[in-house]
Amino acid sequence: MPGTPSPSPEGSVAQFLGPCAPARLFPPVPPIPDWARLEPNRPRPRPRPWRAAGGNSSALSWRGGSAPSWAAPPVRIAQAPPPGGHVAQQQDGGVRSVTEEPPRAPRVPRPARAMVTEQEVEAIGRTLLDAAQPLPARFRALFTLRNLGGRAAVEWIGRAFGDGSALLKHELAFCLGQMQDEAAIPVLISVLEDTAQEPMVRHEAGEALGAIGNPDVLDILKRYSQDPVVEVAETCQLAVRRLEWLQNNKEKPSTTPYLSVDPAPPAEETDVAKLREILLDESQELFDRYRAMFALRNVGGQAAVLALAEGLRCGSALFRHEIGYVLGQLQDEACVPQLTAALRSRAESPMVRHECAEALGSIARPSCLQALRAFASDEERVVRESCQVALDMYEYENGAQFQYADGLCKLQASS
Ligand SMILES: [Fe+2]
Ligand SMILES: [Fe+2]
Repeated sequence: MPGTPSPSPEGSVAQFLGPCAPARLFPPVPPIPDWARLEPNRPRPRPRPWRAAGGNSSALSWRGGSAPSWAAPPVRIAQAPPPGGHVAQQQDGGVRSVTEEPPRAPRVPRPARAMVTEQEVEAIGRTLLDAAQPLPARFRALFTLRNLGGRAAVEWIGRAFGDGSALLKHELAFCLGQMQDEAAIPVLISVLEDTAQEPMVRHEAGEALGAIGNPDVLDILKRYSQDPVVEVAETCQLAVRRLEWLQNNKEKPSTTPYLSVDPAPPAEETDVAKLREILLDESQELFDRYRAMFALRNVGGQAAVLALAEGLRCGSALFRHEIGYVLGQLQDEACVPQLTAALRSRAESPMVRHECAEALGSIARPSCLQALRAFASDEERVVRESCQVALDMYEYENGAQFQYADGLCKLQASS
């Protein structure tokens, strides 16, 4: 099947055990199942990773699709080295070990463990900060840092907020939120407070503060719930509701197939028609509509995808951009026309067009390509850059690359 690499067993083993191992936080493309060889036209499940989350919680999330069982749990970052494991010295003096567990593929051996040095983290951080690098390479460096986690990674990510790319900066904030490392709180607050930062960046900083889950930021979030920039205000309102929900519900939001840290817990309702009704009802509170959104995502299936896609025509740019994000997670081709229409609409908010572009890159079907290529030179910088990054995602999804977050792998291969 074109675009579905099938590395040799030896190749897989070498990649798992080689120096690239610690950065291999995304699983390899699984072997082609027999049914796919026999029925090449049958749609194949595409639980492809894009954004991984977890950081110090050591879990990965999958922006594009649910975490496949053969990859769970992909990474463990332990405080003490496992027997026979390698350890990494962190900048704060702590020692941690990086352990990967193998995918389900039977030919893959025991978890790989390898060393990540301060110098390597620094080199990846420098790639992230280097404006001369192509944006997709800087994105990959960012996700490598996010997957590595730890104080040094948080610091390197925090240093990039002076960049000229709103797209990159909003992704920095997203990653810091997904890492759920409280060390990131000060920089996120400063970004939220900085009105010179683009609304999309401040929005993501507010959302990240909610994602980290520390109630100490409640007062700040309440203050910015009244921000004149509506995307920032709505984000902070949601983050306040999330933190209050966490306080009132001793347990964290239930585990979902998508291990991302979402701005609202999924609704308990699972009926698609009822969830759709709440989702599209603009008289409902935004938090409840978000809860319906994440419940629909978790239920999945084409009816849920199409209900979500209807949300691209609802009020609130923030709401529509989150719909785009969720559709990117779902990776269902059924919503390509709606995503493409939103990307093409110059009347649409750039934040929404950006998220729709990335969703198309995550879905990564040929039907996504034309619009991504057409808008890779859009006059709106954030749209243009999103399409460029999305095309890189498309290439990753359809190619033989071992992992998306390949910063460490590239670094070690070049040394
Ligand atoms: Fe966002
Ligand atoms: Fe985004």
